[in-house]
Amino acid sequence: MSVQSLNYPSIAYREAGKFEEYRFEKIHNVIFESSEEASVIVAQEIADLIRSKQAKNKVCVLGLATGSSPIRVYEELVRMHKEQGLSFHNVITFNLDEYYPMKKDDQQSYHFFMHYHLFNHIDINPQNVHIPDGTIPQEELYQYCIDYEMRIKEVGGLDFQLLGIGRTGHIGFNEPGSHYNSSTRSITLDHITRIDASPSFLGINNVPRKAITMGIGSIKKAKRIVLLAWGSNKAHVIKNTIEGNITSEVPATYLQQHDNTTFVLDAGAAAELTRIKTPWLVTSCVWTENLKRKAIVWLCEKVNKPVLKLTDKDYNNHGMSGLLAEQGPAYDLNISMFNTLQHTITGWPGGKPNADDFNRPERALPVRKRVIIFSPHPDDDVISMGGTFDRLVEQGHEVHVAYQTSGNIAVSDEEALKYAEFSFEMTGQKDARLKSIIEALTHKYTSKDLDFEIRRIKGLIRRKESLGATRYIGLPDNQVHFLDLPFYETGTIKKNKLSDKDLTIMKTFVSEVKPHQIFAAGDLADPHGTHKICLDAVLETIKSLKGESFMKDCWLWLYRGAWHEWDTYEIEMAVPMSPDQVLKKRRAIFYHQSQKDGVMFQGDDEREFWVRVEDRTQDTAKKYNDLGLAEYAAMEAFKRYHF
Ligand code: F6R
Repeated sequence: MSVQSLNYPSIAYREAGKFEEYRFEKIHNVIFESSEEASVIVAQEIADLIRSKQAKNKVCVLGLATGSSPIRVYEELVRMHKEQGLSFHNVITFNLDEYYPMKKDDQQSYHFFMHYHLFNHIDINPQNVHIPDGTIPQEELYQYCIDYEMRIKEVGGLDFQLLGIGRTGHIGFNEPGSHYNSSTRSITLDHITRIDASPSFLGINNVPRKAITMGIGSIKKAKRIVLLAWGSNKAHVIKNTIEGNITSEVPATYLQQHDNTTFVLDAGAAAELTRIKTPWLVTSCVWTENLKRKAIVWLCEKVNKPVLKLTDKDYNNHGMSGLLAEQGPAYDLNISMFNTLQHTITGWPGGKPNADDFNRPERALPVRKRVIIFSPHPDDDVISMGGTFDRLVEQGHEVHVAYQTSGNIAVSDEEALKYAEFSFEMTGQKDARLKSIIEALTHKYTSKDLDFEIRRIKGLIRRKESLGATRYIGLPDNQVHFLDLPFYETGTIKKNKLSDKDLTIMKTFVSEVKPHQIFAAGDLADPHGTHKICLDAVLETIKSLKGESFMKDCWLWLYRGAWHEWDTYEIEMAVPMSPDQVLKKRRAIFYHQSQKDGVMFQGDDEREFWVRVEDRTQDTAKKYNDLGLAEYAAMEAFKRYHF
């Protein structure tokens, strides 16, 4: 496979003779710790190409994508334009796709997206910008698509194509079933694609059913292709695309036939690749404690045995003979791993007073800790760690819950109407403001002022629900804090970046509490979304306060949001729950009534949040039990963030 671009660090790594690791892989790929770092390097490759074409007095033809994946690349190109004089005067662009039908000025249109993120900020000639037009009448669509394809040809073909990948394996909007030689055309969107797009359209019913997309054939003609994938949501499709067979069911696998493609991945998206997930199957490993834990837990699942029953043969047959030779026999490895796992279990998440804490996840002292539970939305606290929260309060710690955002956009208009009508009746039907809010909510119209008021009502609903839950757990109201971080308050799914205002609120709060323990939502692999921004806010805050004496003794524990759990090998503290505690947690979640019954932003998992988390905590308990440890009803899991 020839790879023209030498920008990517792992190419040098491969040249150093580490080919064996790539045994199952059919597409060149590079993995970065973060999407931030990766995006800067991709932008650099594009900028180098533009400049090299300029030096030769040639046009540079770029194929561009939308979606969350390329946003940071575009930001970096804009920065290079503004700060380093990178000019786009010789650039011609063709966007991959557009929803159909779709007006250009609609905020969900890819036309809007491209201008918002890139074209409005650079010196590209507007005539050189091509984005499929979602307003073309149906009867002209066929010819329009042929012309789009011809236009690419006329300017010499694509020099560079930037791609994202959908969970269906689509590139552009080439959904499963697309032909390897397809060209620009209209297409019906897959249901999964529509679900993924539904948050930005505020509900699946608003997502168009069709789109115009460049074809697989059009994309494959590009001289160079770079596909971006961020976050664990993409891990499965990335593994299937890179390691699977070419199939129209995963259209991105057609890229295996292109000889100058690089997939640029972050750690989350790469997590399922064989060389990352089970490196012992492809290469000899340096057996760190973490890798050993990962491998032995994997081996138990693979051979369906508890740790203490693993044999030398099991290790040898599954790529772990090196570990056996270094640290075996199996008997010794098994006992030591059993103890390691056992030591992660504790019913004392704030530390056990007057106990030897050498083998416990938390310190015994101070006996009464000040604890902050950061909850990105007003319900993640009880959903993700309701049992642990309850124990911390019961065991006498000074627990503070801080809701980082108002969570207002996840409340439906119907719910807001109910409360607006209630308040209107209770105040003698006199309040003109409430009357106009009721009118607006009933007849679905809005204005900037009313929008603000409606969001306020929605935020208040969530506040009162949260107080219901925290009171039920026994927390005094003065230990419940609503931070309402400003980055969230856009009224749409798209959030602002973290600003100094957000960080000042966070810092002031943490400095007042002076915590010994912080719990935060650790959706590390999620490249976008509120949870990731909220975690960034916590990490930034801790970093900027690290000089303070109280921070020297502060530990950070990460829980996972409603969507995923830590892998068993990653868990550093597992808090068991009795059947009664499971019930208590369920009741605490029930206080968040606006989030029940087919709430917005639920994704394609139709189970209500309390069902998901009960399944999840039972599953964690079962996995521990399958490894040969004690059987509990449920377990909440945490991973410590080591600074
Ligand atoms: C967008 C496009 C799509 C996206 C894909 C991933 O122009 O063609 O194929 O690249 O749906 O979207 P994100 O990046 O939002 O996960």
